[in-house]
Amino acid sequence: MNGSDICAALNRAAEEGTEFATLLRRSVELVHEAEACFHWTGIYELFPDGMLRLGPFIGAPTDHVFIGVGEGVCGTAVKEERNQNIPDVTRLDNYLACSTETRSELVVLIRSGKTIHGQIDIDSHDVDAFGGGIEGEVQIVADCLAALYDARNNTGHGA
Ligand code: SME
Repeated sequence: MNGSDICAALNRAAEEGTEFATLLRRSVELVHEAEACFHWTGIYELFPDGMLRLGPFIGAPTDHVFIGVGEGVCGTAVKEERNQNIPDVTRLDNYLACSTETRSELVVLIRSGKTIHGQIDIDSHDVDAFGGGIEGEVQIVADCLAALYDARNNTGHGA
C-alpha cells in the first residue's frame, strides 16, 4: 500500500471542506482497499474518559465497541504508547477476539506528540500479514490523520 497517496487524497478532501467524520471513514476505506490481506479495518478513537470507542470500520461487526486502556491489543497500544504488530494472535493471553478467523493484527497509533487521538486497527486472516513495510505505510496515514485531528481541534469546530 502507499500511505503517501492516501494521505494526499485525505488532505485534498479536507481542503475541499469535507467534514471530519467523512475523512475518517474515507481513510478506513482507502486503507482497507490497499491490501487484499486486510480483512477488517477500523478506527478506534480515544475519549477523555480513557475509553477507546469504535468509529468507522469495514468488516465483520464486533462486540468490542468500547475498549479500556490496557485491555486487549488495542488498549495495550494506548497503555504502552506504542504500535502493536501481532504476527499470531493465538499466542496472546489478552487478545479480544473480533472474529475467530483473525490470525494477525496491526494497531497503529494516531498521535500528535504525547497526545493520542486514537488508532488504526487492522485484522488479517493470514498469519504475520503486516511485514514488508506495511506498518510504515499505515503510520503515514495515521500521522496524516493526527494532523487532521489537530487542525479540527484548533478551529474549535466539532466533529
Ligand atoms: N482484537 C482487538 C479488539 C478489536 S477487534 O479486533 C476489531 C484487541 O485485542 O484489542
